[in-house]
Amino acid sequence: MDYRALDVESIQSRLSAAPVGHTISYLAQVTSTMDVAREKAVGRAPEGLVVAAEEQTAGRGRFGRNWVSVPGKNLSFSVVLYPNLWVANRLAIGASVAVMRAIREATGLQPSVKWPNDVMVNGKKVCGILVETEVQNGGVRHAILGVGVNVNLDPPAHLETGYRAGCLAAELGEEIPREELFRAVLEELGLVYAELKGWGLSWEEWQATMETLGQEVRVQWDTHVEEGVAERVDPDGNLVLSRGDGTTTTISAGEVTLQRR
Ligand code: BTN
Repeated sequence: MDYRALDVESIQSRLSAAPVGHTISYLAQVTSTMDVAREKAVGRAPEGLVVAAEEQTAGRGRFGRNWVSVPGKNLSFSVVLYPNLWVANRLAIGASVAVMRAIREATGLQPSVKWPNDVMVNGKKVCGILVETEVQNGGVRHAILGVGVNVNLDPPAHLETGYRAGCLAAELGEEIPREELFRAVLEELGLVYAELKGWGLSWEEWQATMETLGQEVRVQWDTHVEEGVAERVDPDGNLVLSRGDGTTTTISAGEVTLQRR
């Protein structure tokens, strides 16, 4: 080994009670931390377990792209989570906010986000986020959140990406100790996740107590009227109505009247 290994015990011990990173499985080489974390999730490992690796032989990004992890240089890890669908749909956005906060805290750099969740510094991508969710019977079995931060090494140029990649050290002008940054990323991820989960619970309660669902309704807004069965609400809170002719429509606002017969 010709790099300084991360002291994961010290990182674990310096985290607050937020729910990510209290157990870190730190490996030298894996295919992808996404695969290892998925296996752990299938075995119902505790929520917040982190699988980190120095090298990935088949690291992956969005759209089937490669993600390169060079030992000792950057941060590559995945987190095992058991969110509901509402939370799962917001994980990547939440993670980008958490990573940006951690970069600010640990380096003083000022990151920004390229839609939807690439973290950039000075116009170069320094962090990629990947969420892989397994859904069964309409519910989320688990979600794996993968984060790759280019800390001390620019990734090799990749012709197909369509963006400029960079690393934090090049933007700061000096090498960055990885431990403090890793700790800050896990801490902020935990805080954002707890916040999302809290909201997710309110969301579930809202849905569970919604008398409208399953009913025949009439919805009116301005001069428009739609009639049908209120099937469900979508992740943005819109009402999905199934019309008599078998088509569906999504309604974002209106006055609902139950059609009692
Ligand atoms: C992207 O921007 O396309 C997402 C890149 C995600 C890379 C991370 S590195 C850790 C985890 N393991 C992987 O194989 N991918 C994610």
